Order: sequence, then C-alpha cells, then structure tokens
Amino acid sequence: MSEFKWQLIFLAFVFFYQNNTEVQSAPIQRIVNGFQAIPKQFPYQVLLNRQTDTEWEPFCGGAIISKRIILTAAHCIEDNLNEIKIYFGAVERSNIKEPGQQHLLVQRNNIVVHPEWERRQKINDIALIKLPADLQFDEYIQPANLPDPNQSYENQTGVVSGWGDTSDQDPPSEQLLYFDTPILSNEDCKPIVHKYHPNIFFPSSWICIEPSKSCTCGGDSGGPLVIWSEVANSTLVGLTSFAMAGECTVNSPDVFTRVSSFLPWIKKYK
Ligand SMILES: *[C@@H]1O[C@H](CO)[C@@H](O)[C@H](O)[C@H]1NC(C)=O
Ligand SMILES: *[C@@H]1O[C@H](CO)[C@@H](O)[C@H](O)[C@H]1NC(C)=O
Ligand SMILES: *[C@@H]1O[C@H](CO)[C@@H](O)[C@H](O)[C@H]1NC(C)=O
Repeated sequence: MSEFKWQLIFLAFVFFYQNNTEVQSAPIQRIVNGFQAIPKQFPYQVLLNRQTDTEWEPFCGGAIISKRIILTAAHCIEDNLNEIKIYFGAVERSNIKEPGQQHLLVQRNNIVVHPEWERRQKINDIALIKLPADLQFDEYIQPANLPDPNQSYENQTGVVSGWGDTSDQDPPSEQLLYFDTPILSNEDCKPIVHKYHPNIFFPSSWICIEPSKSCTCGGDSGGPLVIWSEVANSTLVGLTSFAMAGECTVNSPDVFTRVSSFLPWIKKYK
C-alpha cells in the first residue's frame, strides 16, 4: 500500500477516535457534570415527589433496601410534608409510560425520621420510609444491599445518582444522572472539611467522596452512594446529605450519611 493510503487510513482513524471519545466522555451539565443513566442501571434508586398547589414536584432521592423499606435523608422530610409520591424503576421521570416505571403514594405517618437528627450540625441525617405494600422486584426495581459495619469503604469507587438540579440556576434533571467517584477515608476528609468550616464537629457517621468536577446538587439529597462488586452486587454505603461549599459547587467535598453507622436502627424496621 502506498504511503498516501496509509496516511488516509490513519487520519480516518484519528477522526473516528476523537469523535467517539468526545461523544462518550462529554458530560451533560446535570447532577453537575454527570452522565445519563440507562434503564435498569440503578434499580435501587427512587425519586420522592411532593405536592404543591398545582402539581407533584420532585424534591429528593432515596434507595430501596427491602420490599418494604426505602432510605432517604432526614433533611428531606420537612414538617409540613403530608404525603409523598415515590417513583420506582424510573430513568426519564416525566415519561409515565416508561417501561418499568411505577408510582406509590405514602403518607407522612409511614416515614420515620432518625430520633437524633440534628439539623444544624447535620448529624444523623437519615430517614426511613415504610411502604404500605410489598414491592414486586423485577429488572427495573431491586434493592441495594446494606453495608458491612466493619468496612470503611475508603479508596473504593462509588457511584452517586439522582435527578437533582444540574447547576444552581437549572431545574431538576428529567433524566436520572450519575457519576463515579473515589471514596475518601474520614481521616483524609476531616482536614478538607475543616478548610471550609474550621472546628466543625466531624462525626464518624459521615462518609465523603473525593472533590472532583462532578458533584451533587439540590434534589439529589437522600439519594444513594453505592459500591458495586461481583460478589456483593450493589452495596449502599451512603445517602447524599450536604455539600461543604454549598450545593452544586464542584471541586469541594460532598458529605454523605454513612449507612453502616445506622444498621441497628434500620434493622428495627427491616
Ligand atoms: C464485624 O466485626 C465483629 C468483631 O470483629 C464481628 O463479630 C462481626 O461478625 C463482623 N461483622 C461482619 C458483618 O463481618
Ligand atoms: C487508602 O489510600 C490511602 C492513601 O493512598 C492509604 O494511606 C490508605 O492505607 C488506603 N486505605 C486502604 C484501606 O486501602
Ligand atoms: C447478586 O445478584 C445475583 C444475581 O441477581 C444473585 O444471585 C446473588 O444472590 C446476589 N448476591 C448478593 C450478595 O446480593
């Protein structure tokens, strides 16, 4: 083959490769800098909706841990909340004809906020939703496993997902979004947190992800931080709680409720 032909093939390859990687790695400006989930990818993810005067609006996420129990963040459960509509098996939330998507209404008296939830210091930011009927698990709806209390999960790669805002200015995402992230040890997270809030009390029941170009934003709260492995499948290690530098700020740490700190409390209901 002539040298010219080789050059053409090479150029064609470079062109294809560049376009291809651009498509795959160009993040959509949602969650903040997340990727679009596909159906069945996060079967443990739920969306919580509340009623306004005119419509149901999404406000938080959550995770299925059994046929009857959903975990979310305590700060999602405001005092004036009467009823929530939970979406299961969803990706494109407004598409009610989406295959696998199901909705369930739950009354406030089925929601248990952790009795030691401390709003100002953001300690014990966990709540549990008792479903009025058993979930029927399928390919779209599956529970995540509870974490091992003896593991810190530091340095492992987790995945965060949600329909939250895609920036401070944007509305909640229509599509479920996610990003992968390394988990920090509490030892490494504490000094980072103290850069933003010197002397803030850092409880062992927090778990942080490494600051990066992706972060959680309003509406992602209560949603899952999960580690996937061949042996344990999906393990729910955290629930989105708060961001150190304010919501939607990239390159600053996001703090999650460490689920393994609450296993005895969860097991009272499970
Ligand atoms: C955690 O460690 C304790 C004490 O070593 C042990 O008794 C327990 O079985 C462990 N739990 C799990 C889930 O491995
Ligand atoms: C996690 O990574 C840090 C820094 O590289 C290291 O010091 C620590 O031992 C690691 N922890 C585990 C459990 O592997
Ligand atoms: C992981 O998923 C497989 C396939 O659904 C199932 O057979 C297995 O029991 C699960 N393992 C755990 C630890 O949940």
